[in-house]
Amino acid sequence: MAIYDFDRCIDRHGTQCKKIEVLKQDYGRDDLLPLWIADMDFAVCPEITEALVRRLADHPVYGYTCLYDGYWQSIIDWQRERNGFEFTREEVTFVAGIVTGFGLAVNFFTKPGDKIVIQQPVYYPFKDVIDGNGRITINNALIQTEGNFYRMDLEGLERIMEQEKPRMMVVCNPHNPAGIAWQPEVLREVARMAYKHGVIVFSDEIFGDLMLFGHKHTAMATVSDEAAAVTVTCGAPSKTFNIAGLKSSWCVVKNPELREPFFKWIEINELCNANLVSIIATEAAYRNGKQWLEECLHYIEGNVDYVEQYCHEHIPGVVAIKPEAGFLVWLDCTGLGLSHDEVVSLFRDKAGLAMNEGSMFGEAGKCHMRFNMGSPRCVLEQAMHQLEAAVKSLGK
Ligand SMILES: Cc1ncc(COP(=O)(O)O)c(C=O)c1O
Repeated sequence: MAIYDFDRCIDRHGTQCKKIEVLKQDYGRDDLLPLWIADMDFAVCPEITEALVRRLADHPVYGYTCLYDGYWQSIIDWQRERNGFEFTREEVTFVAGIVTGFGLAVNFFTKPGDKIVIQQPVYYPFKDVIDGNGRITINNALIQTEGNFYRMDLEGLERIMEQEKPRMMVVCNPHNPAGIAWQPEVLREVARMAYKHGVIVFSDEIFGDLMLFGHKHTAMATVSDEAAAVTVTCGAPSKTFNIAGLKSSWCVVKNPELREPFFKWIEINELCNANLVSIIATEAAYRNGKQWLEECLHYIEGNVDYVEQYCHEHIPGVVAIKPEAGFLVWLDCTGLGLSHDEVVSLFRDKAGLAMNEGSMFGEAGKCHMRFNMGSPRCVLEQAMHQLEAAVKSLGK
């Protein structure tokens, strides 16, 4: 029996909510339906709130905080039980976010001018971090398949590793924006090449607990000994349990030759000092959030099915690409026959929707929009009606 209410609409105005507060600045209007940045509009599981209230309200001293055994064990147990990803306390450290963790890895393992491979269309901050730190982004673009999905260009990757000699590559695992669950054999092949060519693999597994429609997450570091030797994994309870504002993530490195100097540098610079709220919420989520998560995933699947079906039936020209993981839907709008700028304007100015425009994720994202499913169904229904009316007003 379902316990949690994901249909409840929660007003997030006045709560420092980025999704709403920066609408005017980023979209030029603040009256749009906010369906962009990847957090959800659902209440977190009550066990998280209760743990936070208990600590913050019942004890009035918020001094320096230490990362305690129960916190570490909750991460270790969760990953072992849910994803078969095993690691010890020594092999994991705290980082304040996944992008933060990526920035640390880039700065520690590479030098200015080094090349780092990403696979677009992909979560845009990877490129920002690489370029912003004076490294060089190399794109091994994903290949679009017949079924309107994507696969990794393994031949292209091998060529890049041989010719460009990158120092690092990013595996977005599962892959944002299309929500791709990479198969073990693909990851094994990536690891084989990376090991052969001395490339460190940064595996971003932030969406790894949000698998949909029976798909399974494969942690990069588990697929082979070569993978364990080359991979720096970052994951978090942030997307899983909708606590991104608390900035709690973890980083696992199995290979001591990479881990020991990296973790020592992180520690010396106090880059793993967690905030009290983040660790309390993390332990509560991993220990007590399973039922909430299962219900949340079920609700998201319902949202995805609804949007896919609605586009199919009522909005010709817009195809909702069904994700295997995560709560984001990649809308292929190429069938509208508009330019990329016209698509962006259609969604924002005519439909009144704030989604992420696809070219943020790379050239291949043109004429695509990224649509956040982490809202009550009635919000998505409103969005679909607004989009349908906007498309019909084109008179095509
Ligand atoms: C693939 C991916 N990685 C990382 C992040 C951001 O993680 P953090 O807020 O922990 O830096 C996001 C947020 O949308 C994401 O989609």
